[in-house]
Amino acid sequence: MSTYLRTPDAIKSEVQNRYGQVADENLQVAAAGSCCGPSSGAGSSGDSCCSPSDSSSCGSPLYLGEDLTELPEAAVASSRGCGNPQTIAGLKAGEVVLDLGSGGGLDVLLAARQVGPTGFVYGVDMTDKMLELARANAAKIGATNVEFRKGELENLPLPDNSVDVIISNCVVNLSPEKENALSEAYRVLKPGGRLAISDIVVDGDLSGFPVSEAQIRAGLSWAGCIAGALTIDQFTGLLESAGFGEIDIEIQHRYNLDDFLGELPTELSSLEPTVVQELVGRFTSSAVRAQK
Ligand SMILES: C[S@@+](CC[C@H](N)C(=O)[O-])C[C@H]1O[C@@H](n2cnc3c(N)ncnc32)[C@H](O)[C@@H]1O
Repeated sequence: MSTYLRTPDAIKSEVQNRYGQVADENLQVAAAGSCCGPSSGAGSSGDSCCSPSDSSSCGSPLYLGEDLTELPEAAVASSRGCGNPQTIAGLKAGEVVLDLGSGGGLDVLLAARQVGPTGFVYGVDMTDKMLELARANAAKIGATNVEFRKGELENLPLPDNSVDVIISNCVVNLSPEKENALSEAYRVLKPGGRLAISDIVVDGDLSGFPVSEAQIRAGLSWAGCIAGALTIDQFTGLLESAGFGEIDIEIQHRYNLDDFLGELPTELSSLEPTVVQELVGRFTSSAVRAQK
């Protein structure tokens, strides 16, 4: 997309470096490893589970504490989502699920519980260390209905018409080739299958500011899941082009300045605070649903 101003390889390399570091840190947690107890979880303070204000992440994973019980601490601590696909996917026993950009495996392990022993969950990720971490997390709790495969969203390592549901948590925004990623998602879904993902989406557009959309995106972090966020119209258009129907994009959380601390480039932070607030407020965490 012309507004990105960077090559796909440069973007993927930045993303792999950032999430490779996240995985490295959490492989140490995994080695020391325990499981999250009933009272810990995303948002709880003073533990090693994920922190909503972690500026290296994509925002606040909106998991309920009880969802995280008995899961490896390293799966929770490495979570870098911006929503909770479990709450929007309506997973049922026996379904085959694919998690795009599965990271440390938290959403795969949660989905595996929901689809049960007659279902199966695949996680696909391009970062080797993340795959190592996710496999260690799955082994730690003896999950047998999951598999993590190395691959890219733009070239999925799964056959045509093979999955019932695609979930994802804050990853489509990271793809520099979103047309390919969404076409691949459509290809691997069974007819009647559904897409139910959490992602960062721009409400409206990025016009009307003293700097251009290209300058805004160039200054924002790719690996922080902001620079590559689609607008609602762009997302809808790409889903339609890929073949999807029944498209619904629901804004769940609107970001504010605190969420962007450490991410704002100089040319934006020198603008009037009200202008910057207006700009960051157009970035949202949204639920994106569509049907094949
Ligand atoms: C923001 S993290 C989210 C991880 C996980 N979904 C979660 O909620 O914790 C992004 C993950 O997606 C992977 N990723 C990013 N772009 C990708 C692509 N084009 N193909 C495959 N994996 C990708 C990264 O390696 C990283 O593990």
